[in-house]
Amino acid sequence: MDLKLTAPAFQSHKFTSSPLPPRMATLRSPRFYMASTLRTGAKEVDLKKPFMPPREVHVQVTHSMPPQKIEIFKSIEGWAEENILIHLKPVEKCWQPQDFLPDPVSDGFEEQVRELRERAKEIPDEYYVVLVGDMITEEALPTYQTMLNTLDGVRDETGASPTPWAMWTRAWTAEENRHGDLLNKYLYLSGRVDMRQIEKTIQYLIGSGMDPRTENSPYLGFIYTSFQERATFVSHGNTARHAKDYGDIKLAQICGTIASDEKRHETAYCKIVEKLFEIDPEGTVLAFADMMRKKISMPAHLMYDGRDDNLFEHFSSVAQRLGVYTAKDYADILEFLVGRWKVETLTGLSGEGQKAQEFVCNLAPRIRKLDERARSRAKEAPTLPFSWIFDRQVKL
Ligand SMILES: [Fe+2]
Ligand SMILES: [Fe+2]
Repeated sequence: MDLKLTAPAFQSHKFTSSPLPPRMATLRSPRFYMASTLRTGAKEVDLKKPFMPPREVHVQVTHSMPPQKIEIFKSIEGWAEENILIHLKPVEKCWQPQDFLPDPVSDGFEEQVRELRERAKEIPDEYYVVLVGDMITEEALPTYQTMLNTLDGVRDETGASPTPWAMWTRAWTAEENRHGDLLNKYLYLSGRVDMRQIEKTIQYLIGSGMDPRTENSPYLGFIYTSFQERATFVSHGNTARHAKDYGDIKLAQICGTIASDEKRHETAYCKIVEKLFEIDPEGTVLAFADMMRKKISMPAHLMYDGRDDNLFEHFSSVAQRLGVYTAKDYADILEFLVGRWKVETLTGLSGEGQKAQEFVCNLAPRIRKLDERARSRAKEAPTLPFSWIFDRQVKL
């Protein structure tokens, strides 16, 4: 979700190795749209492809992992079975959205809904913009399952493949499915948001897909998911904290419970990458540097509501201002992963490998410095209407 880390998606095709934090990159980047979907006014929608928003993605590099490396993933299937699948929770022990929502068959249903709406009244619009953006991100889950199934050597080849990689992906998707479901139902009951606009945004987003630039490589793919699971852990943890500050303990519980799932998923993906570092330190450090040079784009960076051409950037700005997900979090996650995978202590690398190692190890402080500089120069943020909250204005 969030942040301006989406900037590359709106930039030209040129590769950039600049570690610019997203805020700066966004400010600098000219926006190009596909000619076929070029629009003159904000409300025009391309009639040739009315199901797709006007968004440009990078030139897609495919199958960049040497085919012989697929064997690595085959050879560690036994390991994955024992070490990764244990991070899934048995369905019978899992929470379900209904555990946190008014029970429609109970006599107290209407009263419970009334209470939920009373609590929701105390929460400011800006918080709802962030929560809605998070919910929309979760609701684009079909895209993320698709993305995992683009990865060579670990994809679900049949839809019911018995490999541990495929089992993980399906069960991970099933666990994640509860996140969007719960947030969606909560927001519907809250009476604070324009559900139709939100639903349209979800439809556009799933139609657009995402552009993570993982090139069918599970090296790049699992680095991406390690980063993303931690990012969502941080973000849902912060929406929980804010909800508590507004006095809505039940909403805090909802966000906190989702955050704890994300943490468990982060643990699993980080373990896979740790294993890759053990087997192939050179290939893994190169992949890590490659992902960080390209920047980790947020899963919902192509979002559109039929009105705002820069919806994701606007949503990200609010998330940044509220401290739900910031450029500092991006740097902190990177630093955490560098430490988690002991990148600094890798030995036996080639010259190129050492350069990659140095790049990722020195990147977090550089991002923080650039962010501080951008903030000190930043002008007063404008206030904009968000269709998700009936065009009420929120400061970016
Ligand atoms: Fe999630
Ligand atoms: Fe997740």
